[in-house]
Amino acid sequence: MVQTYYVDGQFVAASEAVIPVDDLAIMRGFGVFDLLRTLNGQPLFLKEHIRRLEDSAGRIGIQLPWSHRKLIDIVLDTLHRNSFEESNIRIVVTGGSSTDFITPQGKPRLLVLVTQAPVLPEKWYTDGVKIITFFSERSIPGAKSIDYIAATIALKKAQEQGATEAVYVDHKGHVLEGTTSNIFALIDGKLTTPGTGILSGITRKAVLELAAKTLPVDIRDLGQDELTSAGEVFITGTNKMIVPVVQVDRASIGDGRPGRVTQTLTRALSKQIEDTYKKTKRIKS
Ligand SMILES: Cc1ncc(COP(=O)(O)O)c(C=O)c1O
Repeated sequence: MVQTYYVDGQFVAASEAVIPVDDLAIMRGFGVFDLLRTLNGQPLFLKEHIRRLEDSAGRIGIQLPWSHRKLIDIVLDTLHRNSFEESNIRIVVTGGSSTDFITPQGKPRLLVLVTQAPVLPEKWYTDGVKIITFFSERSIPGAKSIDYIAATIALKKAQEQGATEAVYVDHKGHVLEGTTSNIFALIDGKLTTPGTGILSGITRKAVLELAAKTLPVDIRDLGQDELTSAGEVFITGTNKMIVPVVQVDRASIGDGRPGRVTQTLTRALSKQIEDTYKKTKRIKS
């Protein structure tokens, strides 16, 4: 099977996928993207991810020449040209070529990259993970910009310290989000998560809806010291779902084991997704 990408209007073998070097994505890191995954071969929350891509593009001033329907069709077409059991799908909108290498000239490029979904370590879910804090804030946090410079640096630092994720802390000492995740803390029986300065995570939204059925939810600024003294902490993201956090920097969280609320929400989210995207059901859009 030849792995196929969609690149600027054409389906090409992944090994031959290229874009011109004068694209603003390369010259200036100007572009947006979204990442989704499949379950039973079906893209999870496809419409939500496309909507967020459209929103991200709008936030940095890129006008998309593709309709919502067209974007969905291109993504599904690319997915179906590949045959991974489960896939990750990256949809990228670049700033397009620019003769002065800085001014967008209204010709964004669309890329759809389908790759095999990685299998994540079981230990993350059974034992929980360590995360570190990292002083940084994204300039347009609501947009999923392709600029992940801080994320790349922060993740490397996390990995050097045996941690799975780094979470950004802003100049006010507020915890914002991870490099590719949102963060939650159980504080005084309330599921607390920041509401500003973050990417509006699609997993975060699903978790908030589920949580609201059984416990109080508090969307507000979250201090770094509140995080380290929380009863439970977890992170959420498309590429990891809900991952329990048992250590933040040097501080152990709760009793150092994945918490009860985290586990309950993990089961509820898996059930909801598995029920919605059943094996037999074949969704075309
Ligand atoms: C900066 C940032 N925040 C949060 C998230 C989590 O969002 P989602 O649950 O939609 O994957 C991601 C992952 O895409 C991210 O890159």
